[in-house]
Amino acid sequence: ASADAAKGERVFNKCKACHKLEDGANGTGPHLYDVVDRAVGSVAGFGYSGSLVAVADTWSPENLDGFLANPKSYAPGTKMAFSGLKKDTDRANLIAYLETIGQ
Ligand code: HEM
Repeated sequence: ASADAAKGERVFNKCKACHKLEDGANGTGPHLYDVVDRAVGSVAGFGYSGSLVAVADTWSPENLDGFLANPKSYAPGTKMAFSGLKKDTDRANLIAYLETIGQ
């Protein structure tokens, strides 16, 4: 089955406490406007840990899938306090939703 962005919008509820989708709107986490294929660690004014740029250059769909499955094993030392999305379909649907934001 192909990814379902509408279902992905609901998965994004797990991210909302820390991430906004408006350009420049940083919170606990950096804003996720246009995040698919964005350079890793590139939001101006956000204080990153440095752990993300150590393991990836760009938030390609493949890299997002790896990070979101288990943030702390993908990027040891990351300060993103989130256990991950265990279901492959949840990640695929979420990434399909994020692809609709800002592109
Ligand atoms: C970083 C996505 C949940 C806090 C990031 C980045 C992405 C992301 C793509 C890297 C952005 C960049 O390089 O500019 C998501 C998604 C989530 C989620 C899709 C839900 C499935 C959360 C939650 C929190 C959080 C719940 C807070 C409890 C952070 C923080 C960073 C970050 C603090 C910076 C990490 C660092 O510098 O090591 N997130 N996130 N995220 N996120 Fe999340």
